[in-house]
Amino acid sequence: MDRVFSGMRPTGRLHLGHMAGALTNWIRLQEDHECYYSLVDWHALMSDYSDPRNLSGNTREILLDWLGVGLDPEKCAIFVQSHVREHVELHMALSLITPLGWLERNPTYKEQILNLQNKDLSTYGFLGYPVLMASDILLYKSHRVPVGEDQSAHLELSREIARRFNHLYGEGREIFPEPETLLTSNPKIPGTDGRKMSKSYGNSLDIADEIQVLDKKIRTMVTDPARERRTDPGDPEKCPVWDLQKFFNQDRSQMEEIASGCGSASIGCVDCKKALIACVAERMAPVHDRRRRFEASGDLSDILVDGAKRARAFAARTISEVYAALRMPKI
Ligand code: TRP
Repeated sequence: MDRVFSGMRPTGRLHLGHMAGALTNWIRLQEDHECYYSLVDWHALMSDYSDPRNLSGNTREILLDWLGVGLDPEKCAIFVQSHVREHVELHMALSLITPLGWLERNPTYKEQILNLQNKDLSTYGFLGYPVLMASDILLYKSHRVPVGEDQSAHLELSREIARRFNHLYGEGREIFPEPETLLTSNPKIPGTDGRKMSKSYGNSLDIADEIQVLDKKIRTMVTDPARERRTDPGDPEKCPVWDLQKFFNQDRSQMEEIASGCGSASIGCVDCKKALIACVAERMAPVHDRRRRFEASGDLSDILVDGAKRARAFAARTISEVYAALRMPKI
């Protein structure tokens, strides 16, 4: 069975954009792949080392979001990166062979240094972000890595690092398979202000938001800006609420009614939003139920202990192979 690895940084609650994109993909993969899904706490620290106060709380919130949307700890290994020490060991080994130029040239690195000037990213650790990512992936000899487009450059580096390790130490053998990028199809999920949904824009509809909260956020959401008055006809293709309808509303005939009603001004935005809220409520009810059940059950640490155990079983074998390949003295 092909192996899959992916991770998310525990930096805050997840939103409906994550649910529609990455998580939908992860849930599908758990059915027919050996999946390792990790809460990558070291990565979260790399991009924000100075404030670790929320790390544990965020890890718990994201874990609940994952379980709520349907990641199943029976079907995949769900674990915290730092609970499996082998990630750090492999990071050390791979850092030896990764040329500085590869890291300095990494477009994500350059962009983040420029854009996130309120954080100190000029550290040795942050430069190595993609090396730790490669360690995550290669530790499980992963075949496929589901990620968003923004991670493509990092995945390319993982392949280069794998190739270089194999070349240097494999003696003709492929120790690490080159991981394939599995791009997440990203349905357009705008936030309440019409921009891409993102926590940092403060426009997100969170997975954990109670339905009353989602209701309120959707009611105040921006619509087609040209539709100023109820009597103005609107254009659904210019309306962020319509993008959400496309994802949440499965009722074809209602969708047609809304589109034509909007275009002829026979319905208002309030009517359209009411229909959307009903769909969101229906979709999120089982997610919230599962989330609450896991929260009340007190099983979270069992899930993480079990996930780490399964991950470590694989990781320890890889590390032994790596130590042997590097001719490290045996104890
Ligand atoms: N860098 C990824 C992100 O910010 C998270 C991540 C860490 C990851 N390690 C990984 C994703 C390994 C895929 C595989 O989204």
